[in-house]
Amino acid sequence: MCGIVGYIGSKNCIPVILGGLKRLEYRGYDSAGVGVLLNGVSKIVKNKGKVSLLEKKLEADKIESTIGIGHTRWATHGEPNEINAHPHANQDGTLFLIHNGIIENYQTLKKQLRHEGYTFRSDTDSEVIIHLIESFMKKGNAFQKSVRLALSEVDGTYGLAIINSKEPDRIIAARKGSPLVIGVGEKENYIASDVSALIAHTKNIVYVEDGEIVEVYADKFVAKTILDEDIEKDVIEVSMTLEEIDKGGHPTFMIKEIMEQHESVFNSMRGRLIMDEGTAKLGGLDTVVDRLAASKRIVISACGTSWHAALVGEYMFEQFLRIPTEVEYASEFRYRNPIIQPDDTIIFISQSGETADTLAALREAKRKRALCLGVCNVVGSSVARESDAGVYIHAGPEIGVASTKAFTGQLVVLALITLLVARKRDLSLADGKKIVEEFNSIPDKIRKILELNDQIERIANDFKNAKNFLYLGRGYNFPVALEGALKLKEISYIHAEGYPAAEMKHGPIALVDENMPVVFIAPKDSTYDKIISNIEEIRARKGKIIAIANENDSEIDRLADYTVKIPETIRMLMPILTVIPLQLLAYHVAVKKGLNVDQPRNLAKSVTVE
Ligand code: M6R
Repeated sequence: MCGIVGYIGSKNCIPVILGGLKRLEYRGYDSAGVGVLLNGVSKIVKNKGKVSLLEKKLEADKIESTIGIGHTRWATHGEPNEINAHPHANQDGTLFLIHNGIIENYQTLKKQLRHEGYTFRSDTDSEVIIHLIESFMKKGNAFQKSVRLALSEVDGTYGLAIINSKEPDRIIAARKGSPLVIGVGEKENYIASDVSALIAHTKNIVYVEDGEIVEVYADKFVAKTILDEDIEKDVIEVSMTLEEIDKGGHPTFMIKEIMEQHESVFNSMRGRLIMDEGTAKLGGLDTVVDRLAASKRIVISACGTSWHAALVGEYMFEQFLRIPTEVEYASEFRYRNPIIQPDDTIIFISQSGETADTLAALREAKRKRALCLGVCNVVGSSVARESDAGVYIHAGPEIGVASTKAFTGQLVVLALITLLVARKRDLSLADGKKIVEEFNSIPDKIRKILELNDQIERIANDFKNAKNFLYLGRGYNFPVALEGALKLKEISYIHAEGYPAAEMKHGPIALVDENMPVVFIAPKDSTYDKIISNIEEIRARKGKIIAIANENDSEIDRLADYTVKIPETIRMLMPILTVIPLQLLAYHVAVKKGLNVDQPRNLAKSVTVE
């Protein structure tokens, strides 16, 4: 839940580390710090708040060094302040540590270390690691061995890096449960939580796996397991570009990511539709598609927005595959000893591919021998690598903390899986071709919806001071209601709830009065008449109605206070369209409230702690 960066080479490490930390701020941004080694002396600079504040502090200090590590924090143990910011140092300030993850047995270790005479400066769990390393070094062990011994005593997760002023020729980095990559340069090397922090410097990446520990020098790196066995690591050339992770002229990443969805959705389906055969081609599933089609049950597991995509997937699979499908919060799934049979398929959806709960659920399902598939955006991420097979959504890097284009990409991939498997089961060629045809029209329809941006901004202006919102939808659009409410909550801090429209009568309707905006997702499908009745019920109680409806729907104008008219498509693909006005509505409300939409309070892009 934090971002880490390190550099060793011949350049000044400060700009490299600051640039990397800024790219990683999506992982946490409540405090930041760097630690460098300067001719045998070591120095830490850190502060509460964002990396930009740290940058100012460093400018004033005029520090230069060729080896350093940096951290941007999302607090778990200990409040966000300067003392709890990383790096953390050992007693005499010769060792520095940055850590992403959680040390579960830190209280026990802290007690033991205090007993040995160690003094703690912070409230963090991380600090125990550096004192533990020092304690092993004091007992005569070498630096690398002490790191290894210390890590074998900690329970929990880590992606970490340590530097030692007495051995300033290397950074030692290790991973268990939190992401870590090494960037390989020309007589210089890097470490980071993910590739986006390094892409300005190198595309040659080594993915560090759980249980590995790497000594990173300027001209080489040496990888071993935590048990001290030698390992060979492959250097992989990644395709990510700098332009992909820049704002591209937009004021925020979130609006950039919303506005590029006609392209990202196109990229998610590009080359994957076969019109002649009325089906989809997903290379990542080639080896498992028959097993998937023969599954007795499908479970889809995910968190947050990805969980909402999973709910849409449930509707798709049950409508077209007629295979019983269940959706599980990853965090609940793993802890209740789930019943998993070998002929089950479990699909794990995760934009980042690093969400701790999703990864833990995947590992549990693998232990129980189900077919485990990953639907991820981040190439080479843990979920992608640990699944039996899977499909990338290819939405491009998503930097805004609120997920937008990843959600529409996930829906595309779920619909492609549905089409592929349905054609293997009993979907006719003619029906398959109709779906392919509809798919092909989706990017243009998204473009038309994005043109409604100004209209949606005006609606947002009228509701920016609302205290509550209700989002209602039926069938395929019930999960979209949940997603619309989540988007508003997380970036505008307005309380919002998503409900199946008919459930509203069973409780939430008590909340409705003239101050309650109610967003209805009301496309012309088989549930339309029912949803019109629900709209009438809200109107009768003077709620303010904002309807997302189809272009040819004139009836709804009479009922709704505001209508946003979007193109029609088949039911299965409708959520890809209906969610976009809701993303824009949340975005504009938050901007009008003067909030930071890319980095909402208390949130981080990738939740790598449980
Ligand atoms: O990377 P993942 O898709 O696994 O992330 C899951 C959730 O943490 C994520 O969707 C979160 O809910 C976002 N803030 C939603 O905008």
